[in-house]
Amino acid sequence: MNGQREHWGSRVGFILAAAGSAVGLGNIWRFPYVTGTNGGAAFVVIYLAAIIFIGYPLMVSEINLGRKTQKNPVGAFMAMAPGTPWWIVGALGVFAGFLILSYYSVVAGWAVSYIFKALGGFSANTDFVTMFYRTIGVDLGDGLTNIFTPILWHAVFMGMTLAIIAAGVVKGIQRWVKILMPLLFVLLVILVLRAITLPGAGSGIAFYLRPDFSQITGRTFLAAIAQSFFTLSLGMGAMITYGSYLSNKENIGDNAAWVVGLDTGIAIIAGFAIFPAVFALGLEPGAGPGLTFITLPAVFAQMPAGTFFGFLFFLLLAVAALTSAISLLEVVVAWLVDEKGWPRVKASVIIGAIIFLVGIPASLGYSVLGNVTFLGFDVLDTFDWWANSIILPLGGLLTCIFVGYVWTAKKAQDYANDPKGKIFIGDWYGFLIKYVVPAAIIIVMFFGLWDTFTG
Ligand code: TRP
Repeated sequence: MNGQREHWGSRVGFILAAAGSAVGLGNIWRFPYVTGTNGGAAFVVIYLAAIIFIGYPLMVSEINLGRKTQKNPVGAFMAMAPGTPWWIVGALGVFAGFLILSYYSVVAGWAVSYIFKALGGFSANTDFVTMFYRTIGVDLGDGLTNIFTPILWHAVFMGMTLAIIAAGVVKGIQRWVKILMPLLFVLLVILVLRAITLPGAGSGIAFYLRPDFSQITGRTFLAAIAQSFFTLSLGMGAMITYGSYLSNKENIGDNAAWVVGLDTGIAIIAGFAIFPAVFALGLEPGAGPGLTFITLPAVFAQMPAGTFFGFLFFLLLAVAALTSAISLLEVVVAWLVDEKGWPRVKASVIIGAIIFLVGIPASLGYSVLGNVTFLGFDVLDTFDWWANSIILPLGGLLTCIFVGYVWTAKKAQDYANDPKGKIFIGDWYGFLIKYVVPAAIIIVMFFGLWDTFTG
């Protein structure tokens, strides 16, 4: 970008935008279903450990790297280590942005379509499993399913994403997140109150809070790390990109703590909305990607003013997904704008269109591509698996090796701290980033993949 680089209007602007990136389908859709398929509370414990010991130091590293270089991920690595192949880490991130957004938009499209389903009212005798299958395009043999409808919603969602990114960082992103994020939070709390007071909610709370460590395998750890990267938007330079719009007078430790804290808080609260309801309704916690879309409508059906709350909830879920999707697209667009000199609007439209096309097979995986599987995953879950179990952890690993040994932890530490800040990035950070995080990621990836492929 020539001349002045845009900057966040304020510190709150940055925190909300970064939290807006972090808080999304990862918290409300993916966290509960991954917790459900990985045995519940024991998974939550490992997930929280991953957030604190891996997620937080990496969040600091990415924001720091972005602010230091004021560049997109590819440009950031090039600026810090010119003439070396380190830029490939940034390029991997740009690729991950592509891949994740393509299926993310499909799921977000489901959420958008539920806004309208909610308006029609969720009634207690609706079969919510059927409703969900129809939404995603599963052919139920009665000729009533239209497989193009989910693709249409996917197009609508991608269109909104690219329109915001085309408008630019401050005007496009910041204006919206300031209003919508707090609203989402309030609504979730209302939902939790309804869910935990349903008859039979207790066993859901136990599933969520009482760990059964016999459920744990190598795969559980990999799933926990994958979820921590995905939910915090780490491992692909999204936080490098957002950090690059941050001004110099900020204490990185504080900003990172806000983002991590808000994101984790919202995920944990979402679990309290889902699991009590799952058990109260006699559903299966391991139901997979449909969990949120099947249980929550059933909860709304049992609430006073359920139509209104259901409508508001899916609206906010779609908005939360939108503030995340824009960060995914922004990584790719920032790279084309900074490094290739493309105009912002052209980059947004062309990339948005390509990502839309790449997402189509993920949507068709529930109908015409139903026989296409990988490790037992459908197309959408395969995209998800490659991105979250492979690319993000690898990107995170390389990023912390880069910061720890190339930039050096000492210099990064000094640069992160501001005298006015509260959280001081001390030598503990160097210890984590140089030894603990790389070792943990390598070990977990090794055993997780071993488990995945052998048993
Ligand atoms: N964190 C978002 C969520 O939880 C998804 C997301 C946005 C993301 N940007 C990202 C994931 C960058 C990985 C990398 O929904």
